Order: sequence, then C-alpha cells, then structure tokens
Amino acid sequence: MTERLTPEDIARAAALLRAGGLVAFGTETVYGLGADACNGEAVAAIYAAKGRPSFNPLICHFASAAAAFQYVVPNPLAEKLAQKFWPGPLTLVLPRREDCPVSQLAGAGLPTLAVRVPAQPVALQLLKIFGGPVAAPSANRSGRISPTSAAHVLADLDGRIAAVLDSGPCPVGVESTVLDLTGGTPCLLRPGGVSLEALEAEIGPVAQAGAVDRPVSAPGMLLSHYAPALPVRLNAGEVAADEALLAFGEPLAGAKLVFQLSAHKNLAEAAARLFEGLHVLDAEGARLGLRRIAAMCVPEQGLGLAINDRLTRAAAPRNEL
Ligand code: TXA
Ligand code: MG
Repeated sequence: MTERLTPEDIARAAALLRAGGLVAFGTETVYGLGADACNGEAVAAIYAAKGRPSFNPLICHFASAAAAFQYVVPNPLAEKLAQKFWPGPLTLVLPRREDCPVSQLAGAGLPTLAVRVPAQPVALQLLKIFGGPVAAPSANRSGRISPTSAAHVLADLDGRIAAVLDSGPCPVGVESTVLDLTGGTPCLLRPGGVSLEALEAEIGPVAQAGAVDRPVSAPGMLLSHYAPALPVRLNAGEVAADEALLAFGEPLAGAKLVFQLSAHKNLAEAAARLFEGLHVLDAEGARLGLRRIAAMCVPEQGLGLAINDRLTRAAAPRNEL
C-alpha cells in the first residue's frame, strides 16, 4: 500500500528514501517521484513504476545550490542563474564531477547531470533531512499528464510506490525550465516555469533546442507526452458537440464541459491550472461520452511557451512510450 504522508511525516518520508523506497513529493512545479539518486536499484524502481524508457535521464534535486555543485561542475553562468532563480523552477544541465556518486542509471549514462533546487518548503525540508541528491521525474506513468496534487499521483501510482508526501497543490503547475549549460551558448532544452525572457534578461541570448547545430535535445522530450486519454485538438476556434473545452479567456460558446485555465488570460494562473484541467476534462469528458478536448489558443510568450509546449505534446500522435 502507498502511505499517505503529511508535512509532519517528513522524517518518515526521508527514512523511506534512505531505505531505497519511492516517495512522491510536491514541488512548486509538479509532484516528483523521488528516490535516492545514488542507489541504482531505487532509481531502477522509478523507471519501473513509471514505465519509463530507460534512456530518459532524471533530474537530481537538492536543498541548496552549494549541495548541487558538489555533484556537478558549475560555471559562472550556472552560478549566476542559481543565485537568481534557485530555489525555483529552473533545471541546469552541467558536467558531472568525476567522483559523482549519482547512479549512472539516473543520468542515463550521460556525462552530464540535470540539477535543481525546488522552491517548495516541504520539499526543501525533505531534501535537507535526506541529505543527498533525490532523483525525481514527474510522478505520473510515462506519457501521461503530470500530477499537480497528491490525488493525481495516487490516481496513477497508488500501490506502486512507497508513499506520497502531500504538500498541497503545486503553485507553478508546469515543469521546470531545462537549460543546458555544457556548450558555448546556453541552450533551452525544455520551456518551463522560468520564462525564456527572464533567462535572457539575466544571461543574454539563449539558443533553443533544435534551432541551432545542436541536435541533442532533452532525451525526454518525446513528442507525444503529457497525453490525456482523450485526444486533444489545438487552437480551437469553435467547439463540436462531442468536445470538452479547455478555455483561456471568454469560453467558446456551446461546450457541454468547460475547464477555464484563466478567465482573465493570466498566463501564470493558466500554467498552474493546466494539468488539473487536462485531468478534469479527461475524467469528466469520458463520463459524459465526449470524444476530444478542444484547447483554445494561448499566446506564445512568457509561460505561454511552456503551456503550448505541453499542449502540443498532449495533441501529438501517440507513439510508443
Ligand atoms: O519540474 C520538474 O522539472 C519536475 C519536478 C518533479 O522537479 N521534474 C520533471 O522531471 O519534470 P522529468 O523527468 O519529467 O523531466 C526531466 C527532463 C526530461 O526532458 C529529461 O530528458 C531532461 O530533463 N534531462 C534530464 N537529465 C538530462 C541531461 N543530463 N541532459 C539533458 N536533458 C536532461
Ligand atoms: Mg514528466
């Protein structure tokens, strides 16, 4: 059985991690499925519980930048970004230190490691008590919608993991921005909770994965991802009778089922509600016999980049995951 833990049970959560157990915990972005990153078997259990392709590397979470930089080699840009955005929804890809004890499986055998310091007090406390790197992908079955509440985690993984530490809903709601700092120009591998504009204001031009002579993007960026059970149609200008509507601003007329991302078109609010919306429309839509989710257009700026990235993946033809 999966234990339901509250913030009072942090010591229990840390003990389960130490024993090689899988513990889902809330971060400011989404719930992560945590394991001791230095314990290969525990990391293998993450891939098994998620049904995740083993080539997809995991992010290591730390309680502080100083802790993270004991495992990877920072450069001045990394230090600057850590100073500005940590704790927060930014993941940095940096070279592993030679003596880095993180399991090769967690890094999928790559010479680099993705590290981040989450801005969630309960998560930070857990990381501090645990005292080492915690590998944590989003706590969902591979290819499914990322969880932004403990209930979402349990819907996907109950009985498959040791515990879920419930710290309430995730305020950011989309995953961290993944930035590769191992090459000459910083490269955006995944848009996320820190906007491209905010990064560029800090460090100047950032390349986008695929845009330059940089074919390697985040290995986890499979096209079909974040997929609800119902198919998704993008940039909807009207709703059909058999469609549920994911609204942004004034809802299109005629939908039987509407989930409002943000009535006043606030992108931060929309990001925070995105996965909840897909979960709700999926469950309710199926109950009402609807066959598709129609998503209204979201502007391609600020957090809109991350929202559109997730929606595009949710709408992509399903492939083997
Ligand atoms: O907000 C988040 O980042 C959440 C919470 C739990 O922290 N975690 C998360 O993890 O979204 P996950 O595993 O679903 O996504 C990690 C992304 C994948 O696209 C993966 O390919 C990429 O980061 N990644 C991890 N390590 C990498 C590396 N060494 N080089 C390039 N990309 C890497
Ligand atoms: Mg994920």
